Parts: sequence; C-alpha cells; structure tokens
Amino acid sequence: MINKRKVLKNKALLLGVTGGVAAYKSVELVRRLIDGGASVSVIMTEAAQKFVTPLSLEIASLNTVHTDLYSHPMAHITLPAHADFMVIAPATANLIGKFAHGLADDLLSTCLLAFRGKVLIAPSMNWRMYTNPVVQENLASLLSRGVVQVGPEEGRLACGEEGPGRMSEVPDIVAAVESALAKKDLANERILVTAGPTREYIDHVRFISNRSSGKMGYAVARAALRRGADVTLISGSTSLHRPQGVNFIPVETAEDMLRKVREEIPSSTVLVMAAAVADFMPGEKSPGKIAKKYGLLLNLVRTPDILMEISREKRRPFLVGFAAETGEKVGNAKKKLKEKKLDLIVFNDVTEPGAGFDVDTNKVILIDSKEQKKLPLLSKDEVADAILDRITEIKA
Ligand code: C5P
Repeated sequence: MINKRKVLKNKALLLGVTGGVAAYKSVELVRRLIDGGASVSVIMTEAAQKFVTPLSLEIASLNTVHTDLYSHPMAHITLPAHADFMVIAPATANLIGKFAHGLADDLLSTCLLAFRGKVLIAPSMNWRMYTNPVVQENLASLLSRGVVQVGPEEGRLACGEEGPGRMSEVPDIVAAVESALAKKDLANERILVTAGPTREYIDHVRFISNRSSGKMGYAVARAALRRGADVTLISGSTSLHRPQGVNFIPVETAEDMLRKVREEIPSSTVLVMAAAVADFMPGEKSPGKIAKKYGLLLNLVRTPDILMEISREKRRPFLVGFAAETGEKVGNAKKKLKEKKLDLIVFNDVTEPGAGFDVDTNKVILIDSKEQKKLPLLSKDEVADAILDRITEIKA
C-alpha cells in the first residue's frame, strides 16, 4: 500500500481507550495508525464503552477489542508482551492517577504495569481537573519515568468552558507516536522548510497564485520533526493541519517569504525550498479594488528568486530545491542545481499520474552533483524521508 510510513510499518500497537468524551476520536486514530502500516489492538475501560462501542473499534482495528481482565486469564500479560508501543487516548485523570501510582484494578491499568516498552498518553479532561495540582503531579511523575505526553490543547471543552483539556487532534497523536518510535538522526539539525504557494496581489482583494497545496513541504517538516530536528516552517496559504512542534511562520507573497527566509537563515543548517514561489507578480499593487468597467491588462514582473539570493550568501546552509516540470525534463533540474548552486534538487514531473499538485503521492528523482536517484511512486511522507536520508548521506 502506497501510504505506509516507515516508522509505523509492522509495529504492534496497544491502544488504551478510557472514558472521556474524546473517545469517539479513537476510531479515527485507529484508522490512521493502520494506514501508517501498524497493527492495533484495543483495550477499553468500562467507562470508555459508555462513549464508543467496542464494535466500532473492532471494525476500525480489524481486531478483537479487549475489555475484561478476567475473560482471558493471561490477557494482561500476553497483550503487552506482543506490543511494541502503548498509546492511551483519551487518557482520563483517573487513568493517569492509577498509572502514576501503580494501581491495577482493570485490564488496561494492569497491562500498563506489565508493559516494558514506551507509553504515550493523550490527556483529555475539563480544564479544572487538568490544572488540579494532583493531576499535574501525577503527570510529572509519569513524564519523569519516560512516558510521553501529547496535548492537551487549549480550546472549547465538552462542558462549554474554555481552557486546556481538549485531547490533541488525531494527526498530532499519530505524529507523536511516530516521533516516539523514530530514530533521532537529525537531532543536531535546524531545518528551515518553505511550503505552499505564494500570493501576488493585483489590488486589495485579488491576487495571482498557483496550484500548490503545500503537502510536500508539510511532509518534509513533519518528517524532520519526527527525526529530532528543530524545524521552522514558512508557509504560504494552505488548508493543511499545522504540525505541532514546528516554529510556524505564515507568509503571503514571495517578497514576504524572502524576508522571513533571510531572517531564519543564520540559525538554520538546512533550507528545503518546497514552496511554489510565484515566478511573476504585478508590477504594482493598486491600493483599493480595481473597478471592473473595462478589461484589465496586467504588467507582471519577476519575483525575487529566493534560492538564488540565499545561494549567493557567504554563510549558507545546505540548500535543497525542487524542480516541478511538465514532462521528463531532468536536464532543467540539473541546470537549476548548477545555476542556484544547490546541494540537492528534487525533480518531479507534475503531469505524471500520482505526482505533483494536491495529491498525497509523488514520484521524484533526487539529483545532486554526484548521483541521480530515481524513486518509485511513494507517499509524500515517504518521499520526505527519502529527501532527508539523502541530505544526511551527502552531509556525512
Ligand atoms: O526556477 P524554478 O522556479 O523552477 O526553481 C524551483 C525551485 O526554486 C524551488 O525549490 C522553489 O521553491 C525555488 N524558487 C525560489 N524563488 C522563486 C522561485 C522558485 O526560491 N522566485
């Protein structure tokens, strides 16, 4: 299957679902973990079954759902023994308290004591409960013993109040699981990624732009984060979920993007320019809204070439560019590699099925001064990992 990410592939996950209103999100969580290539066994507490049925999770996980400590006498030993990783989502204050103090009065809490691997918890509760010192002490105690916590988010809670307590969104939990399982080979890198299209304004309300969705750049940012890098993501306007843990800088125009890239360059070891920077912008932006009385003739001028500008600087990071071409024009990518003095260029033919704009897959050729590496059709997450692998190889 095309969308399997490396780190989840063939991993056996044990998911504990406890009795919070966010339990409904666990169905989606199971699906996304399986999409990543993992197998998932679910344990539900009694309270969890009031919020979501075992049948839903059985269908989502394609696996038996476990709810009872006594239905299989050795389940509390065999389930953790066969798992690579445990996730508790949602994790209620009760489960957190029991786990912190070593209580084992149901199947999930008993499995947690018997499990020897890493555990990730996604707390979910009312903000008054979450900020209660006893809950905070319990969490601190778990974290000091190597448990990984994701969330909670600030926001509107089920009770109608605002505050910290919302369980993290599913993509953030999946990213946290992947991050906890991934090798941290980029821990010494500070990676600056640009993504998405730029908007070049004609007047106050109209702009010209392009078809970029930002998916490739966001995948690079997520993969770099997962592998331990410090990541800054400079993004044009996209509808994508902002990865938790990145330093996120929104921009609109090519000139904005250049300014922000320049600001970040001194503290970056690698620049991955995945953004589809518009090549042209209106020569001048009209202050108001241009009336539509007549036709409109646009005078377009070139935008600054960000990579070119950065490559001219004395202290420049490792530079990665993209060459989105229509047709197999690998020669153009090689020319750009030289002209922009890049360390690596990622060629893709956007007319190929499954490659280019707004799809979750890509088919690329990684080109540097020594090697040309043609990759098969892969998920953008896998392409992102391949790009980062090649960066580490060249830098080594
Ligand atoms: O020259 P071309 O636009 O095909 O080069 C593509 C690469 O250059 C991409 O990595 C893109 O992000 C970058 N680029 C840039 N500034 C521009 C246009 C493209 O840095 N104005």
